[in-house]
Amino acid sequence: MPLSDFLDGLKDNPYFGAGFGLVGVGTALAVARKGAQVGMIFFRRHYMITLEVPSRDKSYHWLLSWITKHARHTQHLSVETSYLAHESGRVHTQFDFHPSPGNHIIWYGRKWIRVERTREKQMVDLHTGTPWESVTFTALGRDRQIFFNILQEARELALKQEEGRTVMYTAMGAEWRPFGFPRRRRPLSSVVLEAGVAERIVDDVKDFIGNPKWYTDRGIPYRRGYLLYGPPGCGKSSFITALAGELGYSICLMSLSDRTLSDDRLNHLLSVAPQQSIILLEDVDAAFVSRELLPTENPLAYQGMGRLTFSGLLNSLDGVASSEARIVFMTTNFIDRLDAALIRPGRVDLKQYIGHCTHWQLTQMFRRFYPDEPASEAEQFAELALAAHSEISAAQVQGHFLLHKMDPAGAIDNVGQIRG
Ligand SMILES: Nc1ncnc2c1ncn2[C@@H]1O[C@H](COP(=O)(O)OP(=O)(O)OP(=O)(O)O)[C@@H](O)[C@H]1O
Ligand SMILES: [Mg+2]
Repeated sequence: MPLSDFLDGLKDNPYFGAGFGLVGVGTALAVARKGAQVGMIFFRRHYMITLEVPSRDKSYHWLLSWITKHARHTQHLSVETSYLAHESGRVHTQFDFHPSPGNHIIWYGRKWIRVERTREKQMVDLHTGTPWESVTFTALGRDRQIFFNILQEARELALKQEEGRTVMYTAMGAEWRPFGFPRRRRPLSSVVLEAGVAERIVDDVKDFIGNPKWYTDRGIPYRRGYLLYGPPGCGKSSFITALAGELGYSICLMSLSDRTLSDDRLNHLLSVAPQQSIILLEDVDAAFVSRELLPTENPLAYQGMGRLTFSGLLNSLDGVASSEARIVFMTTNFIDRLDAALIRPGRVDLKQYIGHCTHWQLTQMFRRFYPDEPASEAEQFAELALAAHSEISAAQVQGHFLLHKMDPAGAIDNVGQIRG
């Protein structure tokens, strides 16, 4: 039977005939759907604008806060809890609500904007180990200015929150991430160092920041290194935090004993540190022990800690150069364990010993803690404390005062009980 006859036969068949009709409707639907899709693509391409911001972008967190502020009526929130234990022992918890993943509609600049926050379940940011996220803004029209306005507003909002505060960054993979929420600036006067010591460092840093031309004119890299050394609990870290507050700088905290740190990563991190920040390398002695020690006396160096090499650290420090003032602070409890190459001028330009409390420091701390007491009480406290202990750290004194919060007489009477 010829094919045409076969098809004609099929058409006459009631079942297949209906089938042909359906196929016709189906095709029309498919065409219509295709048409709608093309139309939608055309519409999107020409009458809608979108902006995608991935989570690794600096503005991402600013935008989340901005969205929270503007999407006040959204019922779908996710929480981000920040937890901060104050030095005094007080614990502060803060709940930050952010719009949850999904769609949110915001009325902004006389336009409806759809905000979609997506979280990929399958994809993880290899640098940070967090789920890959992004927010996408979609608005009608062709004017991109609206997105610039949003970004600008989000940035200003974030900066306002950071005003008067010190932001701490830690290294996460290849980038610096803010750690916790910005801390209230610690006043410099709250860290009581031996007379003249704080001034010496503060003047040096300010002089350095204020004179970029001096360095460029002489072809000297615009960076300066500081080393604070001395026994534990005497105020090295607290002073650096307070100094950052005084300068309006943030702190990039870096641990050299981090086992995932390699030469390349350190080099990269130092070169991408946020502007106006102090790079803080705590306990530099823990990562490297002087090369001059014999391997038997020097087990850490012998085994080789991490993939960071000593020469890698030196190169990274030397490579730190930018038009921005680059300030590196290092701290250690054991300066004699440090290799001479690490603390030579150019890598460490100013060394300062921060030691146990002197008579003067003890009186100052007493007066700060109990401002209503007469000066003679402070003198008495300092004298008794030094008679009872040859070496007292400021941290021990602070702990003692906290035990006698409302009781200055008790603080003096029990001075023998100061403990570490
Ligand atoms: N000179 C000081 N004046 C006021 N408070 C101080 C001083 N030194 C230490 N403290 C207090 O003691 C605590 C510990 O101080 P900090 O962490 O600055 O010591 P550190 O010198 O960095 O010690 P480590 O060598 O162990 O790192 C902080 O709570 C701080 O407030
Ligand atoms: Mg410290």
